[in-house]
Amino acid sequence: MQIRVLFVSSEHGVVANIQRLLDPLSGEWTCYFVPTAADALAILGAQGVDVIVSDLNTEQTDGEPLLNTVMCSYPHIVRFAFTDTTGQSDVVRSGELAHQFLPQYATLPVIQNAIEHAYALREILAGETLKKVISRIRRLPGLPAVYMEISKELHSDDPSVSKIGQLIAKDAGLSAQVLKLVNSAYYGVRQKVTSPTHAASLLGLTALQSVVLVADIFTRFERLSALVPQFSLEAFQEHSLLVSRYATAIARAQRMELSRLNDISMGGLLHDTGKLVLAENFPQEYARALDAAAADGKAVWQAEKEEFGTTHAEVGAYLLGLWGIDGGIVEACAFHHQPQHGRGAGVSETSILHVSDAFAHTAALEELDATPGLFDREYIAAQGLDGYLAGWRTACPPLDGVPPVAQPVPAAVAAPPPPAPVAPAAPSAAPEKANEGGFWAGLWKK
Ligand SMILES: [Fe+2]
Ligand SMILES: [Fe+2]
Repeated sequence: MQIRVLFVSSEHGVVANIQRLLDPLSGEWTCYFVPTAADALAILGAQGVDVIVSDLNTEQTDGEPLLNTVMCSYPHIVRFAFTDTTGQSDVVRSGELAHQFLPQYATLPVIQNAIEHAYALREILAGETLKKVISRIRRLPGLPAVYMEISKELHSDDPSVSKIGQLIAKDAGLSAQVLKLVNSAYYGVRQKVTSPTHAASLLGLTALQSVVLVADIFTRFERLSALVPQFSLEAFQEHSLLVSRYATAIARAQRMELSRLNDISMGGLLHDTGKLVLAENFPQEYARALDAAAADGKAVWQAEKEEFGTTHAEVGAYLLGLWGIDGGIVEACAFHHQPQHGRGAGVSETSILHVSDAFAHTAALEELDATPGLFDREYIAAQGLDGYLAGWRTACPPLDGVPPVAQPVPAAVAAPPPPAPVAPAAPSAAPEKANEGGFWAGLWKK
């Protein structure tokens, strides 16, 4: 893999350190080092690069306008911003400009992992059609600044619940959205959550970080329904929360360890993010796809495929990959409608997300095959998961007052298949840890 990386910094110490670190990769990476935005733009004009890493600290570099230009004119380039030793101010300032952040004095493994991971995911997901669609997107949002700040706190020696609560509370809009989500029926919290700190203490910090990410995304796209009247942001939010709830319930039934519960919960929250990106950037085409899905009784992803040549699953996964979200989550999101293309076998993040999504659109097992493109029974059989369905459905009851999101129903509905056999006792993927104070560990027992 020959990755072309453009480093932009006027700080000699930073540049010299990175040049020294990257020396062993000279056969695999082509690196350019320039001090200013003007030099960087000259390189971008003359030859392509895959990744840009820019300093935001110095006036000489002019990193903010540079990343802004790259975002608008070269949206396919992965954008990193250097953070200084505190990291704080840069993360806040750079907002959407950077997909990810890299400490100025990171070690070689950190730099290599971050850049190769983002690049590889981009390559895996970027088939020619997806590349074409991505290159037409005016603006691919970056990772929310507050998510990065929480991440830093989570990775500190002594993560503080109150500090993370304060980080969220600084943004009144985000804070309100977080509380709205945490107090919704989907989280099943019995007491009213009154502050981000309260939410952090109830959910656990990792689970709250996912909520913050999705709250930020919902807030950023809150005008979407005005742009595409057929698109209900409210229904979208409810569906994302329900899929997350179901996916977590299934993972819990499979006795998966806490870190996988958190990942799967996050995958449920984010699995349809690509819909927001497609609808915002191509409102007319997206409206057409939604109309076609409704008129022809097909799944939305199938109508998207006809309209764009790609689907929200791929576009969303591409974005999550750029953000550096865990590869398992990205893959599950990429293949949640076409799980046969995923690599996971048996009970995996991909199969759980596929089933959870189908459950969220239906009220009973018998309805799973009624909508084309909703449920891949062949894949489930090939993975040996037929016998699990009834048990998983029991673990995922419809929520009171929350009807399943309607999918377009074709004129001729196929006869329902016979009821699935009772699920065998679920195998234990890993010994269940004691309730570590994590939210998921106790929630789904009800
Ligand atoms: Fe989807
Ligand atoms: Fe979905």
